[in-house]
Amino acid sequence: MIRVTRRYPFAASHRLHAPSLTDEDNSRIFGKCNNPFGHGHNYVLEVSVRGPVDRQTGVAIPLGELDGLVKTVVLDAYDHRNLNEEIPAFRDGLVPTTENVAVEISQRLRGAWPEGFPKLEKIRIAETDRNIFEMDERDHEGQ
Ligand code: NI
Repeated sequence: MIRVTRRYPFAASHRLHAPSLTDEDNSRIFGKCNNPFGHGHNYVLEVSVRGPVDRQTGVAIPLGELDGLVKTVVLDAYDHRNLNEEIPAFRDGLVPTTENVAVEISQRLRGAWPEGFPKLEKIRIAETDRNIFEMDERDHEGQ
């Protein structure tokens, strides 16, 4: 078995604000990300799969096929978008923290994951050089 990770940069803007919290709590929890005018990030999504190396091709997954899936399912929806307004889950009130972005992207990928692909093992999103969020997709096995 081998783990293969591919990196997908995308840019998006957001504002972190929970209407159910006071202005003071919003400022304390979200800091500068609570700025009413919003701001952008250059996110880097990493998708990791794990599977056997195919004897004939020598690869675990044709990267072009993974790219096609990630583009259709994630990047077309997220790249150069305002997350608060253009992603339904966040428009409906979920705060577009990168924790929630990771959960939302994980759901999209798992919902569209082709039968023939190696297992989706992990996704990781860097919001900045210092803020990195990981979801271990093995937590969902058997669901
Ligand atoms: Ni932010």
